[in-house]
Amino acid sequence: MTDCQGDVEGASTPMELYEKLSEQGEKVRSLKSAKADKTEVDAAVQLLLKLKMDYKQMTGQDYKAGCPPSENDAELNNGPAADGAGEDDTVDPWTVSTTNAKGVDYDKLIVRFGSSKIDQELVDRVEKVCGQKPHRFLRRGVFFSHRDMHQVLDAYEKHKSFYLYTGRGPSSEAMHVGHLIPFIFTKWLQDVFDIPLVIQLTDDEKYLWKDLTVEECHRFAIENAKDIIACGFDINKTFIFSDLDYMGSSPEFYRNVVKIQKHVTFNQVKGIFGFTDSDCIGKISFPAIQAAPSFSNSFPHVFGSRKDIQCLIPCAIDQDPYFRMTRDVAPRIGYPKPALLHSTFFPALQGAQTKMSASDANSSIFLTDTPKQIKNKINKHAFSGGKDTVEEHRKYGGNADVDVSFMYLTFFLEDDEQLEKIRQDYTSGALLTGELKKILIETLQPMIAQHQERRKQVTDELVKQFMTPRPLNFNL
Ligand code: TYM
Repeated sequence: MTDCQGDVEGASTPMELYEKLSEQGEKVRSLKSAKADKTEVDAAVQLLLKLKMDYKQMTGQDYKAGCPPSENDAELNNGPAADGAGEDDTVDPWTVSTTNAKGVDYDKLIVRFGSSKIDQELVDRVEKVCGQKPHRFLRRGVFFSHRDMHQVLDAYEKHKSFYLYTGRGPSSEAMHVGHLIPFIFTKWLQDVFDIPLVIQLTDDEKYLWKDLTVEECHRFAIENAKDIIACGFDINKTFIFSDLDYMGSSPEFYRNVVKIQKHVTFNQVKGIFGFTDSDCIGKISFPAIQAAPSFSNSFPHVFGSRKDIQCLIPCAIDQDPYFRMTRDVAPRIGYPKPALLHSTFFPALQGAQTKMSASDANSSIFLTDTPKQIKNKINKHAFSGGKDTVEEHRKYGGNADVDVSFMYLTFFLEDDEQLEKIRQDYTSGALLTGELKKILIETLQPMIAQHQERRKQVTDELVKQFMTPRPLNFNL
């Protein structure tokens, strides 16, 4: 046992452990600023992560530099790392970036955000409870983190059901392939658990954040609803709403918004979202609007006055700050905390250092792209883990871990064996970059063409039906 491990075991109170964590955070910072040897920095970061896990286990709270252990500040303020661990990664609702070509370090993010890993045991349990082969996103760790999923499954096994909530911020007409990830998975969850779903379109959020008119944001919400409906949601079990429409028509929804607003301070949202004194007050109060659908009585046409129905939110992990806030507020206003399933990010074409983003056309494959555009974008922009020449590639093989085409295939190629064979062949050099890109092009072109075909079938009347407050068909 090393001295360091001895130290961890030596901490017998939360305060002692907190102090050790502060020291270790300081050590990591000074090693990094002194540009110390990488192995030494990595060892110090590893120990810091271990201490953080011990701290969480001992106190039930996440360690935050400058905040000694308290009794009631359980899981709110665990935003950006204040201690040097994983500080190269920025993950919040507006920015996702890392300097690592393999992408964000998701294990570190779990520790930093205080969520739990989706391990094999949980995947097996989902399989057992729903009686279906787990979706490829679960099998391959695309959905990698959760909050309270075991609790949801415990209740489901006792015939206490739940509902799903997810959303989209309609900032433009065209959605990109990354936006599909949570919706594809949500559809699978709706099918296998046979449960109702609410989908929030935050046209108000996009008006507050972007240089767009209210009318444009509302129009984008309707256009995006068509892409969402094209994912195949069951009309009898799904309610889609625009905030600009629903907020004004549902007293119950608005009541929950004000209840949440009353229980979160400006200081708290500054800490969670980084708002400053010069942000407009619309932004500052918006998180309450994204929180409100987590409570079942926000939808009286669906759930009546029941406020006890558990909510499960599938989303990429960039949205977690909203729901950390929601989970902190929930018990204080008499509601259950929503559970969450977090996905990794579908990377930009240029590499996993950022997520695919609608504001950079060359970083993204849009759901409106033609087969030719898809082919050109992949051939021209998809970052390759291959070697510079065919000879070198044959000799040394490619690096699938940083290769964007391979990463995209892990999201969309259904066959596990075929995927593994591609990985092996690429790594050995038997498969060239051009050949790998061709497989991806041939996977994405029909997938997007089929999506466009289904979207064409979505009439204005169908959108209206999905977006009309009405009872849904389910047994809870
Ligand atoms: P928005 O429109 O930025 O994103 C919509 C959903 O897509 C996820 N996402 C991604 N997933 C994988 N890879 C990517 N590259 C990628 N980019 C975006 C987001 O995490 C999100 O799940 N404020 C929200 C709208 C919202 C919402 C919600 C989202 C309101 N209520 C509840 C999730 C759950 C937004 O602007 O999402």
